[in-house]
Amino acid sequence: MCGISAYIGYREAYPIVINGLKRLEYRGYDSAGVMLFDGTNVQLSKTKGKVSALEKITEEEEERKVGNIGMGHTRWATHGVPNDVNSHPHTSQSGDLVIVHNGIIENYDTIKRELITRGYSFQSDTDTEVLINLIEEVKKTEGFKLGKAVQIALTNVVGAYAISVFDKNNPNEIIVARLGSPIAIGIGKEHKEFFVASDASPFVEYTKDAIYLEDEEMAIIKIGKHVKVRKIKNDKEVKPTIQKLKMSLDQIEKGGYDHFMLKEIHEQPKAIKDTFRGRMLPLEGEIKMSSIEDHLDKFLEANRIIIIACGTSWHAGLVGEYLFEDMARIPVEVEYASEFRYRNPIITNKDVVIAISQSGETADTLAAIKLAKSKGAFVYGVCNVVGSSIARETHSGAYTHAGPEIGVASTKAFTTQITVLTLIALKLGRANGSLASHTFNDYIKKMQLIPRQVEELLNIDSHVKDIANVYKDAKNCLYLGRGFNFPVALEGALKLKEISYIHAEGYPAAEMKHGPIALIDENMPIFVIATNKGHYEKVVSNIQEIKSRAGKIIAVVTQGDVQVKEIADHVIEIPDTVEALTPLLTTIPLQLLSYHIAVLLGKNVDQPRNLAKSVTVE
Ligand code: F6R
Repeated sequence: MCGISAYIGYREAYPIVINGLKRLEYRGYDSAGVMLFDGTNVQLSKTKGKVSALEKITEEEEERKVGNIGMGHTRWATHGVPNDVNSHPHTSQSGDLVIVHNGIIENYDTIKRELITRGYSFQSDTDTEVLINLIEEVKKTEGFKLGKAVQIALTNVVGAYAISVFDKNNPNEIIVARLGSPIAIGIGKEHKEFFVASDASPFVEYTKDAIYLEDEEMAIIKIGKHVKVRKIKNDKEVKPTIQKLKMSLDQIEKGGYDHFMLKEIHEQPKAIKDTFRGRMLPLEGEIKMSSIEDHLDKFLEANRIIIIACGTSWHAGLVGEYLFEDMARIPVEVEYASEFRYRNPIITNKDVVIAISQSGETADTLAAIKLAKSKGAFVYGVCNVVGSSIARETHSGAYTHAGPEIGVASTKAFTTQITVLTLIALKLGRANGSLASHTFNDYIKKMQLIPRQVEELLNIDSHVKDIANVYKDAKNCLYLGRGFNFPVALEGALKLKEISYIHAEGYPAAEMKHGPIALIDENMPIFVIATNKGHYEKVVSNIQEIKSRAGKIIAVVTQGDVQVKEIADHVIEIPDTVEALTPLLTTIPLQLLSYHIAVLLGKNVDQPRNLAKSVTVE
């Protein structure tokens, strides 16, 4: 939540910081701001709205863009409504110190009251302005340098933060720190320049050398010097690990697509293949995953697997439940991380917890992991973002290798999470004897076909767009599925809600008659997943029930379907595969449908209102 982009060096900072903010807008986009230091003056520009609105303001006055030091911020409001004043950066009372902050200072009110008694006054409603004044107060009263003052101030705050702080009286350094919110430092050649950002995307074209701060670490970044990292609590110096970035520029650009979401939908064949790579070995008839092999006994001796996640990742977890129970016969529970962490769950060292998260930064999932670990469970992570907090916090895990997902609505993250879960379920099923070798090999054969089948499925784009045109003005929609495709129905409804703002609900198809059927009339589009496997006949009956009440049916069926075609208003065909793998296909038309409806309604597909890609607050 919130993006930070900063630069200190010899280049003009403005374009670097602004382009960086644009790449980080997935993290928040309700207000934006930038500070430039030209050697003498601090220039602040802030506004409600997106980075493009900020650019408009700065365009009016050239001097707002000058300087080799800059710090920018794109915000997702927590404390204080999104307006110009509450936008970051914030300055201290003297105007000497400047801060950008991602996170929440929970005890800001107590600190604020104390600072007011010491003569401070506040312009904004933010917790961040309180923090920068606390730093100023420590600096002033103790006579400390900026780094020390930041450190002391941070030991007095409760909450989460990634911060970058600048002092105009000591302009060749920036202090950054992290607890619970990510921060990366890009190191320029010969330490002549540095980049600071919430992820590495803002500086990927300038350097491949990056340091990711760990929780409770701070860094002193000085031009011409090695970055110094210290532990905030005990002041111990830590040798930072410099990582080589694998991210490339074209991965974080739209590459000719109108939206990141569309690009990411189309990247799924490759993303799924990348998730297989080195893991699925059809010739050997084997799935190779050292992260599982190294802890196989934990999985095989587990009483149960508990899957924890939020949002789309939780939906992938639900598919995982069907996969693990079907293929490996291991009992599974799937929990919203936000509920799990607060309900005093019963966990033992015989439980294996699988945490799923695209960003690897979701606060609730992270807290649920810490809780499970504290109770002795073995925790396995399925993350997309390499080096993320969840990837580091778990005992072991697998990356999805989907590549950067920038559209706020998750697409390729979902299918690659399901892919990883399928690989694990198959591996465990084979290892504990639940899957006979011929069944296992058959699954592998079918899995191998999936990337090509997804590619083929993407050709239905214009057909889906036509359907989107018919239903774009609907006020409510239902999504129905059974078995493996019940979670896909939930995910289809979530995709539509979040980018088109049309109310949509997902249900197990058979549950419809226990309530939602009352909603059905001739204005209600109902998207039904009715592939020819599993509960086909039962779903057909559900469709009949809807038809008798004049509901409009849009059905996702298997190629060659006859029965549903006769009753449905529209059908979308998917290639044939085994039931357990159908979610990887059925989800594609539902993603395209949401995309086209949102575009037809003129919504901001990549940055839907009120949402942020990475939810690092509770
Ligand atoms: C929906 C969406 C969110 C995320 C959720 C969890 O399209 O993107 O529902 O799935 O916020 O995020 P991660 O997977 O990063 O933990």
